[in-house]
Amino acid sequence: MTEKAELRFGDQTIELDIVEGTEGERAIDIQDLRAKTGLITLDPSYANTGSCESSITFINGEEGILRYRGYPIEEIAEKCSFLESSYLLIYGELPTREQLDEFRESVRYHTMLHEDFRLFYRAMPKDAHPMASASAACASLATFYPDSLDPRDPREVEIGVHRLIAKLPTLASYAFKHSIGQPFMYPDNRLSYVGNFLHMMFATPCEPFEVDPVVEKALDLLFILHADHEQNCSTSTVRLVGSSHVNLFASISAGINALWGPRHGGANQQVIEMLQAIAAEGITGRDFVERAKSNDDTSRLMGFGHRVYKNFDPRAKIIKKACFDVLSRLGVHSKLLEIAVELEELALKDDYFVERKLYPNVDFYSGVIYNAIGTPENMFTAMFAIGRLPGWIAQWQEMHDHKHKIGRPRQVYQGATQRAVTPIEQR
Ligand code: ACO
Repeated sequence: MTEKAELRFGDQTIELDIVEGTEGERAIDIQDLRAKTGLITLDPSYANTGSCESSITFINGEEGILRYRGYPIEEIAEKCSFLESSYLLIYGELPTREQLDEFRESVRYHTMLHEDFRLFYRAMPKDAHPMASASAACASLATFYPDSLDPRDPREVEIGVHRLIAKLPTLASYAFKHSIGQPFMYPDNRLSYVGNFLHMMFATPCEPFEVDPVVEKALDLLFILHADHEQNCSTSTVRLVGSSHVNLFASISAGINALWGPRHGGANQQVIEMLQAIAAEGITGRDFVERAKSNDDTSRLMGFGHRVYKNFDPRAKIIKKACFDVLSRLGVHSKLLEIAVELEELALKDDYFVERKLYPNVDFYSGVIYNAIGTPENMFTAMFAIGRLPGWIAQWQEMHDHKHKIGRPRQVYQGATQRAVTPIEQR
């Protein structure tokens, strides 16, 4: 017999279905609640609210588990490339060699931007944050490609998906080149996805440029680790915006904006700025940890804490190890890494962090790697966006594949009850 939950309210008792996931997670299905009782639920920040059923990513925050389509993140990080992981997320299964080659070819083919994008970037101030210009440029793809906008046409969607994966690194690198006054670099489609991005970021037309395989591998790994994380703030944004049946480019542009915030993907930039400030001001790790414990929200230990992970973030473990590997292979000695390790050790022994179950998250060590490979701080979150793109796409597609209505939360109104307008001269 299917399990039910019972809700008693006044003299009414109603039964609510329990939905059980494949990993044993259970939810009370309240879809008929308002119709049956006139009640709604109140859950600010959605900490207890499941917004969908999904078969893309599984997280167990208590045990520190993350799986894409059932595969543990540790195994994917070891055995797959970023494009392979992207295929897995978007199409549901790992690709065969032929499928991967075909996908890679299609993505490679679409890397170039319309030439008018040069004018688009030139219209931006030099110090425009790359997340602002990337989201604007992403939304503007809808103006360049009116042939891939219909979310209900599978062929249009597929072309849009391949275009977006191919073009986001080009868009991001243009933002960077514009900010430093260097010429935009055309993509070189002989290179790998990540190699091409590095080329567009760091090459100039004047000097030969070789992609460093250590850097290429490290960035590919970071992209894999960022590729999806179920219903986080930016992904839920992509789904909510997409539920209005707006095109994919507009939905992803909204996701980029959500990711930018310092409580979300923007934390990677904040972490490195925090480490640099500690180094520059000469304050001790202990003093900083004490400051982070104050109730003043501006001094949080950035890169620590997570809404779901209450044990450890498995991505942070992999990134920390990669951080040591990459820095030693590049021969980089990083004062910032030393400070990060010290902060982590202090925080993990401190009652404040232990009681609140605050552990390093994906952003804590990633910035040290970005920094060591020569990436400017304001590009960190844009790199996160490139990594997160396949996840946003997969979630957007899954929402369209499932029966869904436009997303529309309710509220409990707490404002003034009806009153009359006093004419302005009497106020
Ligand atoms: N440093 C100091 N205190 C913290 C931190 C932190 N990094 N994170 C949470 N806390 C404290 C809060 O002050 C609060 O304390 P209180 O109970 O005494 O009021 C308690 O821990 C719970 O914090 P909330 O903000 O309620 O937890 P929530 O689950 O809503 O937030 C979040 C999670 C936003 C990630 C938070 O931990 C944070 O701001 N961390 C720093 C920013 C960061 O690293 N963001 C990246 C997250 S990963 C990602 O999005 C890719």
